[in-house]
Amino acid sequence: MVITYCSTPEELFRVAADMIIAEAQAAMRRNGFVTLTLSGGSTPKGLYSLLAGTDALLWERVHLLWGDERVVASDSIDSNYRMANESLISHVAIPETNVHRVKTELGAEESAADYEATIRALYGTDTPTLDVVLLGVGPDGHTASLFPGQPQLESDKLVTATPPATREPRVERITMTFRLLNRASLVIFLVSGEEKVPIVGSILSHEQEANAYPASRVKPDGRLVWAVYPSPFEP
Ligand code: 6PG
Repeated sequence: MVITYCSTPEELFRVAADMIIAEAQAAMRRNGFVTLTLSGGSTPKGLYSLLAGTDALLWERVHLLWGDERVVASDSIDSNYRMANESLISHVAIPETNVHRVKTELGAEESAADYEATIRALYGTDTPTLDVVLLGVGPDGHTASLFPGQPQLESDKLVTATPPATREPRVERITMTFRLLNRASLVIFLVSGEEKVPIVGSILSHEQEANAYPASRVKPDGRLVWAVYPSPFEP
């Protein structure tokens, strides 16, 4: 595990963007394409804007996935797709067929099954290894839409639906599971916010209480990187 403590949000986004670009270029050399799994919430907006301005990625060979999505319309203010579209997708020449939006209009269960099938087909296998996965952490230690104490934490699916979340927006969610997330080549936790310092500090210190936080259960076969602002260990 690599931990990068950043002094500013701009440094946080720059560090993550550089890692994404390097891994994406390696994946494109390896497989001819790269999947970039996007995180939702608000922190990643600055990173997506930075990526939108780079010419280091061959967007026609980048496939976008989402680690989770709220079961709302794709133009809803709560949609993770909408946030990514406004900050990234609408600014780059990525083919529409490379943007794998979660089809929330199918409803929770059906869109989860549809999304799992999309990922299996993209890799042509039932055991896909995602290339680059971005995740965030909530103040309760959730990641993607894997919330503390949920039965979905133990799902053996690759993508699962969840009941209305225990945090805003309190709607049903679609989320990648640990089974899929932990097969990734590179997972980057992009974390910002004072309110997360205790949680991140606990996870990175491998404290016993951290076991209750879903984010602590992301242990990918590949590399795990935490990019954090501010540092949980600075005075
Ligand atoms: C979601 C996100 C969620 C997010 C965390 C952190 O759909 O809400 O995927 O897991 O990453 O809640 O969000 P912030 O980084 O915006 O605080």
